[in-house]
Amino acid sequence: MSDRIHTLSGYFYEYQKSVTEPENFWARIADSFYWRKRWDKILKWNFEGPSVKWFVNAKLNITENIFEKNLFTNGDRTAIIWEPSEPGESARHITYAELYREVCRFSNVLLSKGIGKGDRVIIYMPMIPEAAVAMLACARIGAIHSVVFAGFSSTALSDRINDCEAKAILTSDGNFRGNKKIPVKAVVDEALEKSSVETVIVCRRTGQEVTMKPGRDFWWHELINGASEKHVAEEMDSEDPLFILYTSGSTGKPKGVVHTTGGYMVYTKYSFENVFQYAPGDVYWCTADIGWITGHSYIVYGPLLAGATTLMFEGVPTYPDAGRFWAVIEKHKVNQFYTAPTAIRALQAYGTDPIEPYNLDSLKVLGSVGEPINEEAWRWYYTHIGKSRCPIVDTWWQTETGGILVSPIAGITPTKPAFATLPLPGIQLAIVDAEGNELTGNSVEGNLCIKFPWPSMIRTTWGDHERCRQTYFASYKGMYFTGDGVKRDHDGYYRILGRVDDVINVSGHRMGTAEVENAINEHPLVIESAVVGYPHEIKGQGIYAYVICDMSHRTEENLINEIKETVSKIIGPIAKPDKIQIVPGLPKTRSGKIMRRILRKVAEGSLDNMGDTSTLLDPEVVEKIIAGRK
Ligand code: WTA
Repeated sequence: MSDRIHTLSGYFYEYQKSVTEPENFWARIADSFYWRKRWDKILKWNFEGPSVKWFVNAKLNITENIFEKNLFTNGDRTAIIWEPSEPGESARHITYAELYREVCRFSNVLLSKGIGKGDRVIIYMPMIPEAAVAMLACARIGAIHSVVFAGFSSTALSDRINDCEAKAILTSDGNFRGNKKIPVKAVVDEALEKSSVETVIVCRRTGQEVTMKPGRDFWWHELINGASEKHVAEEMDSEDPLFILYTSGSTGKPKGVVHTTGGYMVYTKYSFENVFQYAPGDVYWCTADIGWITGHSYIVYGPLLAGATTLMFEGVPTYPDAGRFWAVIEKHKVNQFYTAPTAIRALQAYGTDPIEPYNLDSLKVLGSVGEPINEEAWRWYYTHIGKSRCPIVDTWWQTETGGILVSPIAGITPTKPAFATLPLPGIQLAIVDAEGNELTGNSVEGNLCIKFPWPSMIRTTWGDHERCRQTYFASYKGMYFTGDGVKRDHDGYYRILGRVDDVINVSGHRMGTAEVENAINEHPLVIESAVVGYPHEIKGQGIYAYVICDMSHRTEENLINEIKETVSKIIGPIAKPDKIQIVPGLPKTRSGKIMRRILRKVAEGSLDNMGDTSTLLDPEVVEKIIAGRK
């Protein structure tokens, strides 16, 4: 556990070093890893391309840094504690030695199916340990994994399969959700009607009936049976892609964010150990799904690289009741608990009764991620879960950043409700105004940018480098633009204000308004639509859709339900609009641009002052929309 920050002055010292001598700083951190060949140069970069290379020409395999490097000392330590959805089913404790064996065996399975270095593999699986095995086996043989959240629809899945030209899919028969069994393999089958892959490997979980296509579909347990436990990891270049993760942006099509091997490894371990102040023997639990970046960096890679015990939970916070999180914390004596504001707010709504029966004394650190946490939820979390003795790390970061960039360091740097506080070492933030001028000093507000590369940053968007440049590096010269608004207060602490682009954040899940509009427009009776976010008590933001329809065939209620179903089918239930308003027209400027500012105001219910509407083609449409709001 070197490179750990232990004191407040230590933080300031390290931060200073990381800015004045970034290369020496990261060389020192990277020294504690196992490299088959060391780097020729720490960093080569420009943000114009962009072209960013960390640990240039170094060779390694990330899984050797999880397993071989530590097995002599760590083999018997628990790597994964798996808590199933059903409280009556036994939990599983998997040691590092056992996980290593499983990863080696599955690596051999993948190789036997002709999957190798550089091939793309889609992982569409529920929260079971095999999902982590699947990711690590891909990393071990050098295949590029792309995990797709198992709540996405077959259309969303086939879009991703096609975009990355996947060679194989790793999946399960089904998925438990509360007391329901959700089909998973069936969704894959549907997705494969519109795409082709050579191999599908199915892990049995729910035991439900599935169809298996001979020659293409194989059972995980059959293939693994007899697979050798010996496997020598593939040698990877530091800049070889480790994974692709699709995320929503302001255009209709999700983009494949590409992360590479060396930098991602160094940064996820470093940030994990420091932010959470993980100590050997602790039990750490992140409630995210592996389908999101948080699951990648802080359930799988960061904790396992640190030799930590990481808890993986299959279920949902409210099954069998709203005390489940607290029951799991007591059962497994969880020390660090990392969840999303939306979950906190949802549980807050049940009051404190569901917490009472449980002993939460094991907790040392609480974490929050995915969206701004409001002060009320922060205080509830702090008081009722942390019993006013656990620091809350409000961690700001993104799929594109790979790891946490702004956050308190638990127990060491100060916290402040609703503030992500200070950047981690190596992270050089800038606040810019609309023209791109950097706003220096305290008490300023603007757009959040980053001026200097950090090891786990996005390298490209799969198959379309220009899109990466346009989206992140073209808005402000020489800087990475995050898409978030931010404020630096009088003390110099950062508070994230939310997205300033057309991305909405629903329950911590990113959704592009254009993406939802495209899905709505698939309904044959829809003529046009416009989607905005509005403040939602539990989800943070809800989805509000204004839709122009051909009304001659359906009742309004039927049509609204059908549109919701269409979105669910095209993207997944998480994108279903909370509110749909059928409108006679949309507020457009003479140049045809929708004035979303007005739609956002109506959605949030502030109906009195619409601002200047004189540039609208038909100002009366605003009156009609207000009158039609329910
Ligand atoms: C938002 C999730 C405020 C932000 C790790 C960002 C946050 C987007 C926080 C990325 C936080 C994430 N406070 N906002 N602590 N964490 N966000 O890619 O708008 O799913 O741009 O990554 O979530 O979402 P993503």
